[in-house]
Amino acid sequence: MRRGPLAMNPDMQSNSSDLTPGFGGLRVVAFESRMAAEVAAMIERRGGVAIVAPAMREVPLEDNRAALDFGDRLLGNQSEFEVVIFMTGVGTRALFAAMETRHRRADLVAALAAITTVARGPKPIRAMRDLGFEPSIAVPEPNTWREVLSALAAQVELKGKRVAVQEYGVSNHELTAGLEARGARVTIVPVYRWTLPADRAPLRAALNAIASGAADVAIFTSSNQVTNVIQLADAEGIGAAVKQGIARMAVGSIGPVCSAQLRAYGLRVDFEPEHSKLGHLVKEAAAQAASILSARRATAVRIEACASPNPQRAPASNAPRSPLADHPMMKACRREPTPYTPIWLMRQAGRYMPEYRRVRERHDFLEMCRRPELSAEVTVTAVERLKVDAAIIFADILLPLIPMEVGLHFEKGDGPVIDRPIRTEADLERIPDVDVAALGFVADAIKLVHRAIGATTPLIGFAGAPFTLASYLIEGGSSRQYQATKTFMYTQPETWHRLMERLARVTADYLKMQIAAGADLVQIFDSWVGSLGPDDYRRFVLPHTASVIAAVPADVPVIHFGTVTGNLLELMREAGGDVLGLDWRVDLADAWARLNYSVAVQGNLDPIALFAGVSEIRTRAQAILDQAGGRPGHIFNLGHGILPETPVDHAIALVDAVHEMSAR
Ligand code: CP3
Repeated sequence: MRRGPLAMNPDMQSNSSDLTPGFGGLRVVAFESRMAAEVAAMIERRGGVAIVAPAMREVPLEDNRAALDFGDRLLGNQSEFEVVIFMTGVGTRALFAAMETRHRRADLVAALAAITTVARGPKPIRAMRDLGFEPSIAVPEPNTWREVLSALAAQVELKGKRVAVQEYGVSNHELTAGLEARGARVTIVPVYRWTLPADRAPLRAALNAIASGAADVAIFTSSNQVTNVIQLADAEGIGAAVKQGIARMAVGSIGPVCSAQLRAYGLRVDFEPEHSKLGHLVKEAAAQAASILSARRATAVRIEACASPNPQRAPASNAPRSPLADHPMMKACRREPTPYTPIWLMRQAGRYMPEYRRVRERHDFLEMCRRPELSAEVTVTAVERLKVDAAIIFADILLPLIPMEVGLHFEKGDGPVIDRPIRTEADLERIPDVDVAALGFVADAIKLVHRAIGATTPLIGFAGAPFTLASYLIEGGSSRQYQATKTFMYTQPETWHRLMERLARVTADYLKMQIAAGADLVQIFDSWVGSLGPDDYRRFVLPHTASVIAAVPADVPVIHFGTVTGNLLELMREAGGDVLGLDWRVDLADAWARLNYSVAVQGNLDPIALFAGVSEIRTRAQAILDQAGGRPGHIFNLGHGILPETPVDHAIALVDAVHEMSAR
């Protein structure tokens, strides 16, 4: 386009004709690559401090190895794929552009016409039509992985089928797990048009500036830039902090497509320029940034407090705001400042307590769980005795196995036993679908506790995470090596995913029942997940735990707990939860820094420290408080459950010490 002298780029105009206010020293982040020097000059000419960090590099088509390999296999002697899922329009086009560097489009289209093709939504459909073919299956709205899976499964028996999934940028672990659960063999075809720059140091520095509040304005000029910025932030483990940082800044976008991408990541767009040009965007930013920021900073505290690290959670329950919302326990879950560090102890109602033993002498453990008045009594007694900041309903993570009819019972000294463990697909088929109404006694107990202490003390509902439940179901009881569990996972991955899906569904329903009955927050116990390496966690566990956590309404805090999880913390955070449980095998300060303070943390005194004298207990508690450094979002707890031989007065001394030493 030719530009007349009067329609010049605004940055070329003389200062005398340009009356827009300047940046006045604000720090402005831009993500240009080719135009890096120009944008820095534009920002500085208008009085800003430029932080320019290239976020993209174009990938030559012939470097798309996965795409080229897919093309070769598609046209091979016998097509290797029976189903191809096209997830995005841009990716579908990029995949073809890459394949067409080697093959003729007509041959590719003919090969696809002979098999089942799935379009996730209107954009891939349009791309496919432009390329000359129609999808066999068009996935209905809202076009999430769930609809992809159900639309496909309704038309194709997936068992044994070879399925390719085109991806553009974002992997979808849930879709892969869902396909594998139905017996498909999945090949992922990642397609890249743009990738991160080879030297990421400037981008990392810019992200850190954003996360730490050392930047005021951000300008984005393409949707790929947005994707790369957020993806690098996530990969660096600072995704939530960067998003919160951007939410505090003045944010400009070059145009509607880029703005849509920002919004897709939950980010607000403050302005777009009248014309989609870099110079206009910088000018608009200089004109508006100061007033946007002063309005934003007035409400910044509230925004920060509400930002959830789990944007994918179910909508808030719309329940009336509980009077306990401002209790230190609840505030700590939201990483808000509290007058002291709240504390409770896992297994606080248990055998170490004489009051518990007295009830237990007359009743079997499962009977205690089944009788709401007994369960409520031991729950409340523990709170009153210890003066802790939360109650946890007396129950057990294994209760949902009762309606599964696998023969759960507790043997004296041996812990839980499952008479008919799950070892094969046929075992899994035998398990009836669980209606959590069968566990209504837990809801009744919660209501009784609520009536007794609900006005003063938050009540924690809880459940086992799918992996830890599966380990009991498969091993038939407690285990040291998880040999049967892992063998199951490695040799029968489809059945494994099906089992995990079922456990995830029951667990989500069970938690929702507890919340409806009055639980103020919930804890998910993945006690034994630390037995896995990160790859196995990501593939076999993460999608299922994530689906449980996503089902919990966003206004009900979730504590995500495990032990021996030093190697898994980032992945567990990815699975979700407002609070991550830490055991004593990690240093709390290190672990929290590694998580970039993007979640609250709970822990992490060694339960055996309670066997030492009171002065040693105080020293160790102080060391943990020092590691937390008074930062909002620490809930004190043991790193695992309190042991039956623990002296009660030592547990009481710990609670008192934490309250006293953390008072602010
Ligand atoms: O924290 C609390 O006070 C609430 C009650 C609670 C119990 N179990 C009561 C219980 C909670 C939160 C649990 C969770 C639980 N149960 C977990 C996850 C927590 C962890 O320790 O990692 C697990 C793995 C279980 C399964 C379970 N229940 C086992 C392995 C055992 C036997 C071992 C043991 O500690 O006795 C149980 C029994 C059990 N659950 C008891 C209690 C008070 C002891 C029962 C008795 O009195 O004999």
